[in-house]
Formats: sequence, C-alpha cells, structure tokens
Amino acid sequence: MNPAYDFTGQVAFVTGASSGMGLATAHAFAEAGAAVGLADIDEGAVCAAAQELTDAGHRALALVCDVSDEDQVASAVDRTVETFGRLDMAYNNAGIMPPPTDAADESAAQFDRVQAVNLRGTWAAMKHELRHMRDQGSGAIVNCSSLGGLVGNPGRAAYHATKHGVLGLTKSAALEYGSRGVRINAVCPGTIATPMVEAMAAQGELDTEQAEAAQAIDRLGTAEEIAQAVLWLCSPGSSYVTGVALPVDGGYTAQ
Ligand SMILES: NC(=O)c1ccc[n+]([C@@H]2O[C@H](COP(=O)([O-])OP(=O)(O)OC[C@H]3O[C@@H](n4cnc5c(N)ncnc54)[C@H](O)[C@@H]3O)[C@@H](O)[C@H]2O)c1
Repeated sequence: MNPAYDFTGQVAFVTGASSGMGLATAHAFAEAGAAVGLADIDEGAVCAAAQELTDAGHRALALVCDVSDEDQVASAVDRTVETFGRLDMAYNNAGIMPPPTDAADESAAQFDRVQAVNLRGTWAAMKHELRHMRDQGSGAIVNCSSLGGLVGNPGRAAYHATKHGVLGLTKSAALEYGSRGVRINAVCPGTIATPMVEAMAAQGELDTEQAEAAQAIDRLGTAEEIAQAVLWLCSPGSSYVTGVALPVDGGYTAQ
C-alpha cells in the first residue's frame, strides 16, 4: 500500500511508534526508504518494532521515551539525528485515551496526565524536531490530532481539549516556519481499528457497530490509511500544504 513515495536517504522520527498508527507509519516510512527513529514508552514493544524493521533490511532505531518528559523527548530526537545524520520528517503521534468521565467528576490527575502526554508531548516533540529542521532549513512535521480536535464528544472533554490544542500548536508553528522551509500539518483520524480502539470496545466504552455506521464510509479506518495520509503530508506532493487539519475519518466530520 506504499507505491508512491521515495524517501531514500531521508530520516523520519515517530512517537508512539510501537502500536497502532505510529507503528504503521514507522513501517510505511521505512518501506519508502527512510531511516526511522521509533520512540515509545513501552520498551519491549519499541525494541521489537525496531528489530523487525532492521531484520527486514531497513535502518531503524528504538528509543525508549515518555513524551511527557521533555528531556527524554529531546534525547530521543537528538539520538535520531546523531545516528542517521539529519531529520527530514516527523510524526508526533503518541497519545492516550482516558476512560469516559462526566465533566463534573474529572479528576485533576486524569486531566493533567492526558494533557501531559497528548498536548505537552506533541509540543515537546515539535520543539526539538524544529531545532534541527530550523538549522537545515527543511522538514515536514505531522502532528496527530483527531476528529476530537474538530468536534466535541460527551464524556471526553479533557481528551478533546488536548486534540483541539494540537491544532493550535500546528497552525501557529506552521505560520512561523512556512517561509523557513518547514511545513507543519495535522492529521485528524476518525475511529481507527488500533489497540486503543480495541481496548475501548473491550471495556464497553465503544459500540463497534455504531462506530462503523457513524460515517459515510461505514467501517472503521485502518492504521495504514492514516500512515498514507502522514506520508503524503511529508512528501513533495504536498509542497504547498501547511497548517492544515486533515480529517482522515471516512466522512465523520462532514456531517
Ligand atoms: N484509534 C483511534 O481511533 C484514534 C482516533 C483519533 C486519534 N487517535 C490518536 O492517534 C494516536 C495513536 O493512537 P492509536 O490508536 O494508534 O493508539 P495505540 O494505543 O495503539 O498506540 C499508542 C502508542 O503510544 C504509546 N504511548 C502512550 N503513552 C506514551 C508516552 N507517554 N510516551 C511515549 N509513547 C506513549 C503507546 O505505548 C503506544 O505504542 C493517539 O494520539 C490517539 O489519541 C486515535
């Protein structure tokens, strides 16, 4: 599913790279010829993911990193550049989904953790990627928002606040860097069949049949379909695209 891109000689960095959309995107970057730094909080999974790519003949580096810790993010980005020599593309994807909570009952601890991972983690990754891309005068960054960055959902106020925040980061930084050779965009996935959504269904937080019927294309999306959008946003094919929030949601937000 990756016929169109040639990123030979380029370097990509992906957070949340050992599962779901991050893993699919790391694979897609590697299959298109890029060297990939895979960052994730799950040490066993990220080492296995990088090893699988290396075994298949790709250049890949496992980076154990909690994106809520800026020092760990800086170190992961810098190690990618030290290892592979440059940084051309990044997908800032790591995220968590707290259980649905009545807005009147949300704990400060839950609010702070989802902000720290989803919003502050994206901020930290973008910041440290830009330090290299600023010096190079080139680069493409894709931040992971959500349909939750475009609309609300009962019980999900804190999560949706993070995903709206990701779009504010994306648009402002895109304006700042447009004339400096760096494009910054966001993808807004709909409901995608990943371990995150499988866990929501298993916990009774999501009715899969209802979710499938909720958009014009009446099925869940796949992680590979998000990866393809990310690769396009990193490719020369999107050379005049910056600051967009691209829904990849089967039409959910068209309603
Ligand atoms: N699945 C969906 O339907 C959906 C829809 C819209 C947006 N999203 C967003 O897409 C992104 C990826 O989601 P997914 O569905 O692939 O989820 P997933 O749970 O399959 O994968 C998330 C990955 O992020 C990692 N991670 C979690 N916390 C981390 C941290 N603090 N530091 C570093 N890594 C961390 C996990 O270990 C995991 O590998 C998330 O930002 C999520 O909010 C998902």
